[in-house]
This record gives sequence, structure tokens and C-alpha cells, in this order.
Amino acid sequence: MAGRLPAVVIDNGTGYTKMGYAGNTEPQFIIPSCIAVKESASVNDQSMRRLGKGMDDLDFYIGDEALNQPSYAVKWPIRHGIVDDWDFMERFWEQAIFKYLRSEPEDHYFLLTEPPLNTPENREYTAEIMFESFNVPGLYIAVQAVLALAASWTSRQVGERTLTGTVIDSGDGVTHVIPVAEGYVIGSCIKHIPIAGRDITYFIQQLLREREVGIPPEQSLETAKAIKEKFCYVCPDIAKEIAKYDAEPSKWLKRFESSNSITRQEFAIDVGYERFLGPEIFFHPEFSNPDFTLPISDVVDEVIQNCPIDVRRGLYKNIVLSGGSTMFKDFGKKLQRDVKRTVGARLKVSEELSGGRIKPKPIDVM
Ligand SMILES: Nc1ncnc2c1ncn2[C@@H]1O[C@H](COP(=O)(O)OP(=O)(O)OP(=O)(O)O)[C@@H](O)[C@H]1O
Ligand SMILES: [Mg+2]
Repeated sequence: MAGRLPAVVIDNGTGYTKMGYAGNTEPQFIIPSCIAVKESASVNDQSMRRLGKGMDDLDFYIGDEALNQPSYAVKWPIRHGIVDDWDFMERFWEQAIFKYLRSEPEDHYFLLTEPPLNTPENREYTAEIMFESFNVPGLYIAVQAVLALAASWTSRQVGERTLTGTVIDSGDGVTHVIPVAEGYVIGSCIKHIPIAGRDITYFIQQLLREREVGIPPEQSLETAKAIKEKFCYVCPDIAKEIAKYDAEPSKWLKRFESSNSITRQEFAIDVGYERFLGPEIFFHPEFSNPDFTLPISDVVDEVIQNCPIDVRRGLYKNIVLSGGSTMFKDFGKKLQRDVKRTVGARLKVSEELSGGRIKPKPIDVM
């Protein structure tokens, strides 16, 4: 039976869970990775669950529905990509499988994902729940970064099918730079960047607040997030971009319209420099974080330079973007340009040091 039906694919992220069936081009559901439970009941439920009686408690919600339940407590079972509360995670999966995907888990193989450097204990615990609570016939847990490399085969037509590359995965809470050689993550060389989607949202919220544009305070975060997802892009050079906006504002300003969720009164704001300053913090982290000042291109270069010399070329040649916060227009273009500059400068120095006797073979950065 399982062999004939498509595999269920579930990618549980810190912020969003993406789920659907193998063979489709996109997830069937993308929902917030949260669960709403009755606060008073939850302690009890958990101790009942340990006695093996809990599974029949159906009084909970997941995803967007969970965010609209006034008398429930909202929990986020995944932190920094790693499952933090297994009871809530199991119940989340239960609804994801039965209520959303409407699948009979006994009839499908399952593909789940894990972040790089997940612990073996976590992997075993996931397997235990899948096999014992849901009776799945087969399970594979893939590293998100490796899946991103495989997924890039279809999105870029050129090049060979390789599982060697550098994956930049930027979600809501953290950005990872992950070198992968022949399908194996080079764990010791992974680096984290403390800048991701949420930081960009906060930064835009702060810029808008400074301008006092008249957003209801309790809606300022969701407004900043909506503006970010709708209007932001990466520009080649901020000074030139500002000059462009100042010369011809009508061409570049965008209008964002919404309404006050309580009074229903409509409001509209002009979105200006925020459009490109938001994602710029990847390239100038000091704008938003005084403790971290390394541009993303330098982190990528450092990661690759730390890897064994025989894989470095392959890592520069296949830089793959993954995660919601890499979706800004021209993000990849600027990153590629900056990594190329760093690599080019280094090659030039080594050529000069050799008095021009060594002509290094150029390195492709793609
Ligand atoms: N079109 C878009 N442009 C820019 N950012 C976006 C866009 N769509 C979603 N995002 C942002 O992407 C982030 C979520 O990305 P993603 O779903 O990859 O994260 P996740 O997998 O839940 O988290 P993590 O990988 O950190 O565990 C959010 O910050 C969201 O605002
Ligand atoms: Mg993710």
C-alpha cells in the first residue's frame, strides 16, 4: 500500500511548518508551527499522557487557527529549528496529519526534515513517535540543507546534479551557512548568523516608528512584517538608492493600506527607504546589531575557507539559497557579487605575493 501512495513530506520550521505530498511542486499547507491548548488543562494532560492516556484529548488547535483562540495558551514546540517540547510536537503532528493532510499515516512513507547538527536523541525520539504513535510504515529524516541542494536541481536548469554546495538557510530566527560535500554536512564548519527574518521585521518596525506614520501600536509588528514580505528588496548600493528615491519619490514609494483591527478605521502609509534598508542588514549587520558586524558574504567566504581545500571550489561554485528570508529580490545577486569580490581580492594578493609568477586559476562563484 505505502509504496503506491505518495510520501508525506513535513518540514517543521521554527516559525512555519510546510507540509504536503512528494511529487508536488509546492507545499499543500504552510502554517505557523504553534499549538493552542487549554492552559489549565495542559499540566494535567501532560501527566496523563505519561500514563498513556492523553492521545484522546482533542481540544487543541494548530497553525493560524491556534492564533485566534482567546482562552487558550499558544505554544511553539520548536526553538531554533530543534524540537523543544515533544508532547506538543506529537499533538501538532497529529492534527497536521489527520486534520490538514487528511492522510492515513499507516499508508504513506514519511519524509521529515531536521536542522544541521540535530542530536541523535532527537532523531530517535522523532522516529519513536512516528512508528509507535502513528504506525508509519517507513520514515526518512533528511537534513534541510541537503534537501535544498537537491531542490536546486530543478530550479536552476544549468549545471550538473551535485550534492556539493554551500547552503544559506535563513528562516525567522537564525541564518545558517552550511557546507555540504557529496551529501554530507561538514558540521564543524557550519556558521550561524544572528540575523534573520524577525530581525528585519523589527528593524523595519523601528524605522516606521521613528517616522511616526500612524500605525496602531499593537499592529506595528504585523504591519512591518507584511511590508517586508510585500515590498522589500536588496539594492546594489544604499547611497545611490537613497538618491534615486529623493530624485523621483513617486516612482519608488509604495503605499501600504490596512485597517485598525479594533476600530476598523483604515490607515495608509508610504513605504520608502524601508524597502531596501530592511534586508540590507544582512550586508551591514551593524545597522541593527552592535555585537555582530560581519556581512553575510564574509561569513560565507570564511565558512568555505575553513573547509578542506579539495572541496572549496565546489562550495564556491554552488551557493544555494533556502528559507523565507532569502526570497528578497536580488538577494542572491548581491551576495554573489560580494563573495566574488572577496575571492577575487584574495587571488590578486596571492598573485602579487608570488611576484606574478603564479597565475591562480579563477574561482567560479555561483
Ligand atoms: N516573500 C518574502 N520575502 C521576504 N521574507 C519572507 C517572505 N515570505 C516569508 N518571509 C519570511 O521568512 C521567514 C520564515 O521563513 P521559513 O519558513 O524558511 O522559516 P522556518 O523554517 O519556519 O524557520 P527556521 O528555518 O528558522 O527554523 C519569516 O521571517 C517570514 O517573514
Ligand atoms: Mg526552515
